[in-house]
Amino acid sequence: MSDNHAPTLLEHTTRQLRNLCQENGFASSDETPADMLRELLGVAGRRRLSEGPLWPSDVADDATPVEFSVALDDTGDRAVRVLGEVIAERPGMAANVVAARRFLDTMSDHLGIPKDRFDAVQDLFLPEEPQGKFAFWYSMIFRPDARPKLKVYFNPAVRGEDREAELVAEGFRRLGMDEAYDAATEYSVQRGAQDRFTFFAVDLDDSPTARVKLYISHYAATVEEAVRASQAVDGLDADSIRDFCRVLGGDTVTYEGRPLVSSYSFLDSDPKRPGNYSLYLPIRDYVADDVEARERVVSFLKGRGADPAGLDRAIRAVTDRPLADGRGLLAHVSLRLGRFGTGTTIYLSSEGYEVLPPQVGRAAEPAFVEA
Ligand code: TRP
Repeated sequence: MSDNHAPTLLEHTTRQLRNLCQENGFASSDETPADMLRELLGVAGRRRLSEGPLWPSDVADDATPVEFSVALDDTGDRAVRVLGEVIAERPGMAANVVAARRFLDTMSDHLGIPKDRFDAVQDLFLPEEPQGKFAFWYSMIFRPDARPKLKVYFNPAVRGEDREAELVAEGFRRLGMDEAYDAATEYSVQRGAQDRFTFFAVDLDDSPTARVKLYISHYAATVEEAVRASQAVDGLDADSIRDFCRVLGGDTVTYEGRPLVSSYSFLDSDPKRPGNYSLYLPIRDYVADDVEARERVVSFLKGRGADPAGLDRAIRAVTDRPLADGRGLLAHVSLRLGRFGTGTTIYLSSEGYEVLPPQVGRAAEPAFVEA
């Protein structure tokens, strides 16, 4: 194939997204997911994959600026989601922010996405010269027969790592949730630099169920650190967290590769206590290849009484490569617990640019450790 026929990033990811939506019961006439993806990717989408990434996005390991996920609610409902970074034509931290704001303006004009929660915190989280790996990301959330939703992820380290806590506390304050900072950190930020604020996320939605979420990465942690973090939410079953880690982490005792991540969800109406706790396990660092990752996810879903067939359909929606050929197609798995609803979410890499090789002897030393 000549280069002129090589797919663009938009063609590659649109095919994956359409397949995922189709597997999950969306009407094939629903063009909204594909339209939003096109807006989000902008000029970066028109570039051919063979030209390589325009910007080293940290959304995915191979710099593809999108990552898919399928949220399986214990009620049987599903959502297809896309985490994505908007990249400017001439990329750079500040230029990407300008382009990403423009995307939000378009979404707000076309879909009526409310911007007030974004406006309340944007000058805090979007300084003129953002630092760190990214300034902000979006998640687009699609459910069959529902309006699409948008969520923004801000980077607490955007003004420097030493100011993470200050930004998070102020972010909650701006949203009228002063008490949320203490409620979230009391159980989860106890190990100095090993517990780090990762994302401050805001649902851009004016429904009473719009949430603010705080994500904390636990470096070199054991499952007991996650269990402790989960106790910020009343009445959570610690054994379901132990079970999740045992099945998905295999024989891992200390998560020395990419960290376990906790998140807490808050509603405006109840900032004193988070309603939900989620735990994210970056499964790709703890398996040899995607065959092993899939097997573990299948056992986990079966253990929870969920149908694992949906997992295989989701995998086949994004790729036809043999699972033994790589690692990281299944990037993370998360478990959601609490009164806002429980479920499991599977994160699928687009692998637009690269497939991570399988890792040999991973139990002894992770092939790839990144702080
Ligand atoms: N790629 C980054 C990481 O793995 C960011 C990221 C993408 C992430 N999706 C995620 C982090 C889901 C936690 C959970 O860290």
